[in-house]
Amino acid sequence: MRTHYCGHLRADHIGATVTLFGWVDRRRDHGGVIFVDLRDRSGIVQIVSDPERTPESYGLAEQLRNEYVVKITGRVSQRPTDSLNPKLPTGEVEIYADQIELLNAVRKQLPFQVSTAEAESVKEELRLRYRYLDLRRDRMARNLQVRHGVMKAIRRFLEDEEQFMEVETPILTRSTPEGARDYLVPSRVNPSEWFALPQSPQLFKQLLMVSGVDRYYQIARCFRDEDLRADRQPEFTQLDMEMSFLSQEEILELNERLVAHIFQKVQGIDLPRPFPRLTYAEAMDRYGSDKPDTRYGLELVEVSDLVADSGFKVFSGAVQAGGMVKVLPIPGGNEVVSNVRIKPGGDLFKIATEAGAKGLAYIRVREGGTIDTIGAIKDNLSEERTQALLERTGAAPGHLLLFGAGPTDIVNATLDRVRQAIAKEMELIPANAINLLWVTDFPMFEWNADEKRLEALHHPFTAPHPEDRGDLKTARAQAYDLVFNGYEIGGGSLRIYQPELQRQVFEAIGLSEAEAQDKFGFLLEAFEYGTPPHGGIAYGLDRLVMLLAGEESIRDAIAFPKTQQARCLLTSAPAGVDKKQLKELHVASTYQPKPKGE
Ligand code: AMO
Repeated sequence: MRTHYCGHLRADHIGATVTLFGWVDRRRDHGGVIFVDLRDRSGIVQIVSDPERTPESYGLAEQLRNEYVVKITGRVSQRPTDSLNPKLPTGEVEIYADQIELLNAVRKQLPFQVSTAEAESVKEELRLRYRYLDLRRDRMARNLQVRHGVMKAIRRFLEDEEQFMEVETPILTRSTPEGARDYLVPSRVNPSEWFALPQSPQLFKQLLMVSGVDRYYQIARCFRDEDLRADRQPEFTQLDMEMSFLSQEEILELNERLVAHIFQKVQGIDLPRPFPRLTYAEAMDRYGSDKPDTRYGLELVEVSDLVADSGFKVFSGAVQAGGMVKVLPIPGGNEVVSNVRIKPGGDLFKIATEAGAKGLAYIRVREGGTIDTIGAIKDNLSEERTQALLERTGAAPGHLLLFGAGPTDIVNATLDRVRQAIAKEMELIPANAINLLWVTDFPMFEWNADEKRLEALHHPFTAPHPEDRGDLKTARAQAYDLVFNGYEIGGGSLRIYQPELQRQVFEAIGLSEAEAQDKFGFLLEAFEYGTPPHGGIAYGLDRLVMLLAGEESIRDAIAFPKTQQARCLLTSAPAGVDKKQLKELHVASTYQPKPKGE
């Protein structure tokens, strides 16, 4: 029987006889004395075997190799002073192995060294292919623990302190409106009909409010077939919540306590509350983003009014066409950013053009207050206007002013990306800073230029702001996002609970009565039977874990993630299936491989 986990042994245990199970992390032979680092999920402890003190185990100790699975019984001893290891939690002790039992050997060559003491950096592809070995390693084992800690803290808080009830909702369901493509599953017994995997449990959780569940939560798997990024997975996990009879203020307050509880339990950090808030309009104005990283300054300054009727067409034209001109003032930027980097071929130029900009105009303020700038600004902007620009942007010697001019969304996207790149490069982000903030008052809709129609910014069940009911099309929504160091980790809203208002919103996004009935008739019908006012939120659990674990990729927060190509390298999914299966499902492929060379 196991008496302890390896990583839990301390000086208090000296003298005890213990039985441990685990993997050989490393084995070292020091002139007849064999040291084995034994590892289990709790950590590592040093085992010692030599012919004099532990003759019974010595023969086997010699045969051990990395990653063999063993059972060891021995005595916990104080390490000699010269071999104490303060870096290891168990570094004060070692175990003299009276008995070693080999439970299983490694039969193939390891694809990479599992022991992190060997300090090998392993390609992600290989890590994902052999994920079970990767998960044995320190970093990933720790990340799994963080994830577990977050889930546990969530459950304790919501269930034990706030009377939330976990309810599971279907995975085989109808399309849910979160804006991504659906993953579809053909129905064998209902030929030519399809289930969609849920993009979120949105509709079911609202129906649960109609049912009187009052406070629902679920650790819910969601599926979205969208372009992948470092913080997105096709299959991800939400902490999903919905509450009846609470105001927006009450929902935010409860959620702040939840998030503070998670930080306290997982990291031992007391978060100051209430969390700061920005309206969507303010966030876009000051940072060009609805998920601003507020750990550093570098705020944007709009100067449209100063240049609207100037002779510089790039600026005046942008404003007159309904767009804007904005500046990113960078204190000390002259030193760091050369002209080459802002001009075609430069890295910052590339960031700007990838965001849709045509380029980046600039002004440099030199020591003594003289300025350098591109010719077009010098020739077309009067002295007076330039001075006004410098004043408005707080420019001082050493400042570099980068300009964005054009359609509002492009200007914001451009300066947001440049701002982030500069902050990283100039190391303006304080280590260990934690900035949580609510972004509120999102617009109800945004314009979808491709489809030439309004689209719900959040989702079409979000309630409009009571002050803005007059004109739904320009209304603000009672919606909120939680932003953590520049990542959107959660989002939610108060919901519409009156069928008439819900119909008006469907109409605003161009959904005909018949389409609305076809897609969401069951929800509209439910609203007829006494629906409480309700609202909720969902957190991206993988993202939260990624940030708490200090990782930069969401894949490092998930045990078995997919690659950027939406593949599982371990199981080789997705994969082909038998013709017979397809036939049963009444599915035929229209896929035609491209001829070679195209
Ligand atoms: P939303 O679509 O904003 O809201 O999703 C909530 C949170 O889920 C995370 N997230 C993702 N994480 C990983 N990979 C993805 N592909 C991915 N997509 C989203 C984000 C996001 O903030 N039903 C609503 C919630 C509500 O209104 O209550 C919803 O799903 O962190």
